[in-house]
Amino acid sequence: MTIFDKISRTLQELGVSDAQGVESLFAELRKAAEHERAELVARGTPQQAQRVGLCKALRDRWLARKGGVLSQVDENWLKPAGKELKPVVGNQFNKLRRFTANLEFEKLVEALPLQQEAAPQMELPLGAAGRAVPWDLTLPGLRRPLGSIHPVTRMQREIEDIFLRLGFWIESGPEIESTYYNFDALNIPESHPSRDDWDTFYIDAKTVLRTHTSPVQIRAMEKYGAPLSIIIPGKCYRHDNPDSTHSPMFHQVEGLAIDEDITFADLKGTLDFFVKMLFGEKVRTRFQPSFFPFTEPSGEVAVSCFVCDGQGCRVCKESGWIELMGCGMVHPQVLRNGGIDPEKYSGWAFGLGVDRFAMVKYDINDMQLFFQGDLRFLEQF
Ligand code: DAH
Repeated sequence: MTIFDKISRTLQELGVSDAQGVESLFAELRKAAEHERAELVARGTPQQAQRVGLCKALRDRWLARKGGVLSQVDENWLKPAGKELKPVVGNQFNKLRRFTANLEFEKLVEALPLQQEAAPQMELPLGAAGRAVPWDLTLPGLRRPLGSIHPVTRMQREIEDIFLRLGFWIESGPEIESTYYNFDALNIPESHPSRDDWDTFYIDAKTVLRTHTSPVQIRAMEKYGAPLSIIIPGKCYRHDNPDSTHSPMFHQVEGLAIDEDITFADLKGTLDFFVKMLFGEKVRTRFQPSFFPFTEPSGEVAVSCFVCDGQGCRVCKESGWIELMGCGMVHPQVLRNGGIDPEKYSGWAFGLGVDRFAMVKYDINDMQLFFQGDLRFLEQF
């Protein structure tokens, strides 16, 4: 049985049950790898096409994820190994992995001597029609540089992950919204300044670019009724001039939990857990009274600065605290507007700015950087 037959069986099937047996199997494999590599290097090749093809074949034979020698060893020897043998097999496997790193394609190609004069007259491969085509189809393709996740998206996903773990689900709603959902249903009266042209982009008298994600609270209540626990990430729009802390388009995540017997303690507990998951176990939360038309009572949440632990630093502007979001107990009228009986159900809600969270967490001092598409900035994430 060759060593390549042996890798398709388990150690038990091979009757190998001690460290010595394992080590000699792996030694055999290393020898085989070295042999194949040396043979290829010694053979060399005058033709670029062949050279690349041969290197790739050898690399794949050993390192391909599917069916490569190493992955077979992993599947058949390492994974099924018993408790006593596993550490030895793991150890040897790592050693083999390091050893076979020199079979990586680039390293192989480098190691292969190429006879210079032959390269320009390389044999032309045949195209589909059987005619020679003037390019080398076996060359590796150009690698497209991979992008990275935008910092605001990354922040949003981190927030979503925490709430998904708590059993919330993700809801979304339209960015072009009726004034009813954006304002009236949320108890924001006709006279409220946020409804002014100066604050809100109107499409027509009854249609706006939503100024917050809160209207989806009502839509979700209508759609699902109670109980309900959702978060609502999304884009919002306000008539703000762009500066280092404002943008006419920005991102929020809204949270909403409705059930029987939901109290302010649930709100505090959940948000405290949330910020600890996001900023670290050490941060403390501070709830201050505030006002929003759609919650009663309403609060403003701050966390102790996760950089200086409340001592005062640049990130918290020397205050020791970072103001993070608005929250409160859902106003009974808002529940009613969503078709939910406030005598039976209660709920809490919060709303936070994702861009602001990302600025705080990643220490970014200018919100505009998020939206300018400057690669020097984006590549850092
Ligand atoms: N919608 C508010 C805003 O955009 C944020 C907010 C505050 C949402 C308190 C809430 C809340 O759900 O309970 O400023």
